[in-house]
Amino acid sequence: MLNTKLLPDTTENIELAAKLIAEGKLVAFPTETVYGLGADALNAEAVGKVYAAKGRPSDNPMIVHIASREDFVRLTPYITEDMEKMMDAFWPGPLTMIVPRKPMIPDTTTGGLDTVGIRMPDHLVALELIAKSGCPIAAPSANLSGKPSPTVAQHVVDDLDGRVDAIICSNDCQVGIESTVIDMTGERPMILRPGIITKQDVEAVLGKVVLVDPTLNQRPEERGDAEFAPKSPGMKYKHYAPNAPMLVFEGDPDDVRAAIIEEKILREERGEKVVALLFDGTDQRTAAQKFFAQLREADKADADVILAAAMPEEGIGFSVMNRMLKSAGYNIKKV
Ligand code: TXA
Ligand code: MG
Repeated sequence: MLNTKLLPDTTENIELAAKLIAEGKLVAFPTETVYGLGADALNAEAVGKVYAAKGRPSDNPMIVHIASREDFVRLTPYITEDMEKMMDAFWPGPLTMIVPRKPMIPDTTTGGLDTVGIRMPDHLVALELIAKSGCPIAAPSANLSGKPSPTVAQHVVDDLDGRVDAIICSNDCQVGIESTVIDMTGERPMILRPGIITKQDVEAVLGKVVLVDPTLNQRPEERGDAEFAPKSPGMKYKHYAPNAPMLVFEGDPDDVRAAIIEEKILREERGEKVVALLFDGTDQRTAAQKFFAQLREADKADADVILAAAMPEEGIGFSVMNRMLKSAGYNIKKV
């Protein structure tokens, strides 16, 4: 058990945390998407400890967080015109670009791939931490592997107290779901993980068609399991799961609402504790921001079951549904 320091996000504390990172220690920190669990991305031993602290499979590569364009140039052998346009439009921000990597990045960081995911977060604490530590920071989401991503400092404390050297405690994350991951190494860019930066947003910037990994949001019946090989390693694992079983209701919104209310009453009569997630009247950005926190609240309330209403899979709705379907283990009820 490590003696985890809980650090409010003051300048002195960020300096202290940066020293810890530079010494090869583990520090959880806020970003605009979700909290990250950081280590020096160029220190294989430090990155190895991140996998251990999370209980994460070691073939699942880390996103490398940077604070400047100079950092980007140091990590990748060349920069294309498309990459430039993406940086101009979306950095700092919730976008991770998969690009070729330079050999200086250890295999432990990239899961042995010849590419690396890089992102410049839009959060002053994160940017200051990276700049002061003097190295790029490898950081997966700061949750135990398989759990919902942490969007509130307390979520990180709940999962990682005793497993990391320090946690920088800051405000709640404003985006709430993880960054859009886009592979920039092919002829056409391809979205490997959807986030609040959507296919349409990227197409508007690049002026060309952008692909989306066809396995995203596929239902089990739409795929032979042998064929299910998502391009981003992290998308294949059990993910984002609350303790309570979760059921997603799909169909006409009014029917869905009625079916959830009926199911809730039925189960409560049997003495079950039911949490219903209805998003009517909630805009997509807010649904994304609150989604993971709602799952963790349901766990804290000791829910026996979570009943969730599906939302239309357009724009950010596609990204929220990507998380919801995984959280529920594709447990879907059509109404
Ligand atoms: O918003 C975020 O991206 C957060 C914050 C902390 O920045 N980080 C995050 O990291 O979500 P993580 O490790 O939970 O998810 C990283 C995703 C995984 O699905 C991983 O497989 C994929 O990015 N990934 C990373 N490097 C890759 C690569 N070289 N090729 C394909 N996928 C990659
Ligand atoms: Mg994660």
